[in-house]
Amino acid sequence: MMVELPRSALSRRTLLRSGAAAGAGLGLAGLAPGAAAAQDAWPAAKGETMMGVPFEAHEVVRVGIIGVGNRGSSMLPLFLELDGVAITAVCDTSAEAVERAARAVVEQGRPEPAKYSAGEHDFENLLARDDVDFAYIATPWEWHTPMAVVAMRNGKHVGVECPLGVTVDELWELVDVSEQTRRHCIQLENCCYGQNELRVLRMAHDGMFGDLLHGAGAYLHDLRELLFSKTYYAGQWRRAWHTKLNADLYPTHGLGPVAAYLDVNRGDRLVRITSMSTPALGLAAYRQEHLPPDDPAWQERYAKGDATMSLIQTEQGRVIHLVHDVSNGRPYSRLNQLQGTKGVFEDYPPRIYLEPTGTPHEWGNWDDYAEHDHWLWKEVGPGPGGHGGMDYLMLYRLAQTMHLGLPPDIDVYDSATWSAPFALSARSIEQNSAPVDFPDFTRGRWRTPHPGTDSAKP
Ligand SMILES: NC(=O)c1ccc[n+]([C@@H]2O[C@H](COP(=O)([O-])OP(=O)(O)OC[C@H]3O[C@@H](n4cnc5c(N)ncnc54)[C@H](O)[C@@H]3O)[C@@H](O)[C@H]2O)c1
Repeated sequence: MMVELPRSALSRRTLLRSGAAAGAGLGLAGLAPGAAAAQDAWPAAKGETMMGVPFEAHEVVRVGIIGVGNRGSSMLPLFLELDGVAITAVCDTSAEAVERAARAVVEQGRPEPAKYSAGEHDFENLLARDDVDFAYIATPWEWHTPMAVVAMRNGKHVGVECPLGVTVDELWELVDVSEQTRRHCIQLENCCYGQNELRVLRMAHDGMFGDLLHGAGAYLHDLRELLFSKTYYAGQWRRAWHTKLNADLYPTHGLGPVAAYLDVNRGDRLVRITSMSTPALGLAAYRQEHLPPDDPAWQERYAKGDATMSLIQTEQGRVIHLVHDVSNGRPYSRLNQLQGTKGVFEDYPPRIYLEPTGTPHEWGNWDDYAEHDHWLWKEVGPGPGGHGGMDYLMLYRLAQTMHLGLPPDIDVYDSATWSAPFALSARSIEQNSAPVDFPDFTRGRWRTPHPGTDSAKP
């Protein structure tokens, strides 16, 4: 059963702007789950929805970490910063990485966590422990779904690095297992907690951009040096994906925040995607310039076009532009744009134009809008750690919802939806950019108002 939420559990904007309110404007209010259009077919559910389902309250959240490479080891100290959070177990196929992680915990004056490094499936032993409430998975992409499924089947809530899964079947499996086991499966999309993203979200939901029309998100990050490093990504797993799939390999950093602006799964939904890639030249050019002729990387053929561009249409007719490029020289950007009938925001660098106050045809000063910051940035952030503090705020909020017994900001439906372009863009590109339908992972509940990242302070 869908849990009835007290009004206080929903932010003001959630009630005003999403779900029932948005649906009412379109004459859709009250449409029962399952009564959507015929093309919205979905596989039979194996359990009840997890939308709006609160965590059980935890006095202490006990975390097991699987994968303590670059990302896992940078998140570990942030978990330790949080009150009422303990790291009880760590796992990695590298015994050295596990030792380093365990040492980092002990050096903070905490008990040594249990250690697992006996091969690729030792994570199953970590997940069988009864002192783990939440599993954090920071392993190569191909491991995300197998690990998250075992976590939930062992009674753990699970937070997964980006993307959640790499095929549509995997994403449905995660939705089904989450619903069956009543465990949350969360895409830990840190970019949803960026200061600019949360301020735009608040302003969008307060109506400052008018009716929302389109947005853009991206992962534009020159990773060439890291992709070819012999030591950075374990076994160079990340470059291997560029030999396997022509797709948007990292959709959630760009899509998560824009989906939140547009109330996706809370009044709107992603309907279809069409994708194109440029030629694949960047990695081969880097190899030519930097690698000796006997390097094994010369055996590789790169399938992933350098830039993959997608257009996504929503049920309400809005459009999202999504871009992925990690193979060319350029400064970092996630684009992060939103256009409504009353104005526009564009990031990198942040700039804004709003009517009626803005000077026509000129950008206004983003700093002038600091009063619209989300409460996490006004009262908690930025906090320690990387990525400008958003990693910490994401974990702070996650721990808060688990301590207080609130629903998570990001549920399995958001997580699956934001990750789906990984597989769907590949399918579209394979079919000469034909439009590909998005699965409705909510099974018709996408109009239902429920908590999201535009949270009210509890
Ligand atoms: N959200 C972000 O900002 C952000 C930033 C960086 C990376 N990431 C994500 O984090 C994940 C990890 O990336 P990374 O850069 O840390 O890569 P990495 O190669 O540095 O780390 C992955 C770790 O997983 C371990 N591993 C591999 N298979 C395993 C198995 N079967 N059992 C246990 N451990 C296993 C490896 O030994 C390695 O230590 C990826 O999904 C990546 O996309 C997210």
